[in-house]
Amino acid sequence: MTRLAIIGSGDLGQHIAHHAVQDEKYKVVGFFDDYEVKGTLKNQILILGAIAEVEDMFRKGDFDCLMIGIGYKHIKVRRELYEKLSGKIPFATLIHSSSYIDSSAEIGEGCFILPGCTVDKHVKIGANVLLNVGAVVSHDTQVDNHCFLSPSSSIAGKAHIKECCIIGINSTIIDNITIEPFIQIAGGTVVIENLTISGMYAGVPAKLKKRF
Ligand SMILES: CC(C)(COP(=O)(O)OP(=O)(O)OC[C@H]1O[C@@H](n2cnc3c(N)ncnc32)[C@H](O)[C@@H]1OP(=O)(O)O)[C@@H](O)C(=O)NCCC(=O)NCCS
Repeated sequence: MTRLAIIGSGDLGQHIAHHAVQDEKYKVVGFFDDYEVKGTLKNQILILGAIAEVEDMFRKGDFDCLMIGIGYKHIKVRRELYEKLSGKIPFATLIHSSSYIDSSAEIGEGCFILPGCTVDKHVKIGANVLLNVGAVVSHDTQVDNHCFLSPSSSIAGKAHIKECCIIGINSTIIDNITIEPFIQIAGGTVVIENLTISGMYAGVPAKLKKRF
């Protein structure tokens, strides 16, 4: 059985561990976490050590693949860790068996696709992306590295969501839209034009509420 280690033992790390065991049949060997005590258990899963120990423990053969369980509130840390470790350690890609992934779609490494998602024809999902429950990515859309799609968010066809965007719960992005990097869409927002300024957008239609 493939042995998975997860960076971060908080909510997202626990969520990955849950589905990795229940659905994907990985063996979760433990968490790397700078804020927990090495050798202790968290929800019956071992704390393997600090994040600085990841590469050494992989070289020693303690696990086979890795995922990052650091959530959207720390998206830059998530990106930095992925960029540091990619190419050195294989990343797992967890796709829940209840999600529909069209055979023409491409999904990058390190992605976590939760139950009930739809990824349609010729969609490209980059690396280290999370699609939360029921997210819909329609035909020919591209979602770049490190993005987070919240539950029931829907992206229509031929859109391009650039890296490190956070798409809020139940938001809608109409077709042919481009969203530039580091943009956050609040829950329930409807995006009907390209978004170019990095910041938080909310409302129907989407308006810039905060610049980052
Ligand atoms: C966007 C969000 C993160 C709040 O961000 P924030 O930076 O703390 O924003 P604030 O609460 O300070 O709100 C700033 C403005 O945006 C408005 N706003 C925030 N969220 C909004 C929403 N979902 N819809 C409409 N307006 C919203 C506020 O009313 C406020 O407007 P004002 O300046 O006119 O008074 C939060 O409101 C949200 O929508 N979260 C979605 C979370 C989600 O998808 N979770 C799923 C994770 S699995």
